[in-house]
Amino acid sequence: MVKICCIGAGYVGGPTMAVIALKCPDIEVTVVDISTQRINGWNSEHLPIYEPGLEEVVKECRGRNLFFSTDVEKHVAQADIIFVSVNTPTKTHGLGAGKAADLTYWESAARMIADVSKSDKIVVEKSTVPVKTAEAIERILTHSRKGINFTILSNPEFLAEGTAMKDLFNPDRVLIGGRETPEGQKAIETLRDVYANWVPMERIICTNLWSAELSKLAANAFLAQRISSVNAMSALCEATGADVSEVSHSVGTDSRIGPKFLNASVGFGGSCFQKDILNLVYICECNGLPEVANYWKQVIKVNDYQKSRFVNRVVSSMFNTVSSKKIAILGFAFKKDTGDTRETPAIDVCKGLLGDRARLSIYDPQVTEEQIMKDLSMRKFDKDHPAHLQPPSPTSIKQVSVVWDAYEAVKDAHGVCIMTEWDEFKKLDYQKVYDSMQKPSFVFDGRNVVDVDMLRKIGFIVYSIGKPLDPWLRDMPAVA
Ligand code: NAD
Ligand code: UDX
Repeated sequence: MVKICCIGAGYVGGPTMAVIALKCPDIEVTVVDISTQRINGWNSEHLPIYEPGLEEVVKECRGRNLFFSTDVEKHVAQADIIFVSVNTPTKTHGLGAGKAADLTYWESAARMIADVSKSDKIVVEKSTVPVKTAEAIERILTHSRKGINFTILSNPEFLAEGTAMKDLFNPDRVLIGGRETPEGQKAIETLRDVYANWVPMERIICTNLWSAELSKLAANAFLAQRISSVNAMSALCEATGADVSEVSHSVGTDSRIGPKFLNASVGFGGSCFQKDILNLVYICECNGLPEVANYWKQVIKVNDYQKSRFVNRVVSSMFNTVSSKKIAILGFAFKKDTGDTRETPAIDVCKGLLGDRARLSIYDPQVTEEQIMKDLSMRKFDKDHPAHLQPPSPTSIKQVSVVWDAYEAVKDAHGVCIMTEWDEFKKLDYQKVYDSMQKPSFVFDGRNVVDVDMLRKIGFIVYSIGKPLDPWLRDMPAVA
């Protein structure tokens, strides 16, 4: 029986390996992690991550050909194929701080593989890494362990959170990069055969190592660039009276452009886009390409602009101050159908409002109070490091309360900010919301989920990203 071991039981390692185990009953899959808490979660009734459809698959395979363990060394030693799916956050200190990828976790995984291996292995880069990482990893493996053959493949993951299972079952493509040597090509075939159990051959793309590594950064940069493009348009729509949804629809019907990923928002979040673009920018700078670096940097600048523009809009609409006013924050996760808060725009918006001394009442159906408090007290980039390396969670922040019901959050609030497009926010009884709030009652929709006309009829003053402005907002001082 072929044995696969995946190092890193996170948002990628867990779901990816669960699907491999389901689709390949002849392969034994073990997911290992240094975090006992995470592994205990995977072995319990309450999985450590929320992803629609995941629980069913884990329950079907766990104990059959899918295992979760903290005995990292034992399972690495026994495996034929090792996936490395550890986190690769942005460096917080030293050379390249704030831009370059921190490969500490990757390097320590590679050194451990070299230390414990007694047989030949295929080592698969699943994490998103800078181009040429495979070369560095090859050096660590081959120099530390003579006589054992390690073949490195790049197999970046394209799943999106919230739709991970759908994406894994039916991927647009699977990308496998390897050396153009007989060993490299043989390893590519071995991994291709694993995916071929459920992915049509024509969707499995095989390339050289560097193309595969760079394609992952490029794909995320292109996706994020679409969002910054539509968000830049949303500012112009507000200034001119155009409606961003109509503009997106008109632009997206051009078959060369396509309709997906053109929703204006308060800004993109998630653990990947910002980190991977910063990483790309750093690689361009290191390769003497400042013009290319600046081009991609602008995608992040527009995203930051969109978040601060939203905060300014809230404050300026509410008579230029939110000091001591209660603001309800509906949604904290970076998108719907996940409990993940890494780089969520809600953090920047909440911090901006707290800076103006607002009182916040936060509700998200999947994010815990502990997580929210941690996020609001942490420095940028720190929280993408594993939980066990994070500073202890503060007990609370004075002006913030976290509640477990949207109606509780909005009670007596002056304004409501919608930060995540959870379906339940579309279906709220907005008359009930209005009746329980202070007057005038404001709604700031950062995700374009509410029916603006209906809310205005109820009596709300409504701001919705990129939509024609409420007369009230037009009369307020211009936003920076
Ligand atoms: P994550 O933080 O959820 O999981 C990483 C896990 O690796 C953690 O549980 C950590 O404890 C573990 N780990 C770190 N060092 C270890 C070591 N030496 N030995 C054993 N375990 C170790 O991260 P994630 O979101 O799953 O992302 C993993 C990688 O995949 C990143 O490079 C990311 O950029 C990439 N990626 C993420 C997504 C996504 O949607 N989250 C999508 C595509 C690619
Ligand atoms: C992304 C990539 O989509 C995925 O291929 C890669 O493997 C990991 O990074 P993820 O971050 O999980 O996935 O979610 P995604 O759906 O891409 O959304 C990222 C952010 O962009 C979210 O905050 C989302 O709300 C925002 N977004 C997305 C928009 O603001 N507008 C859109 O039209 C689409």
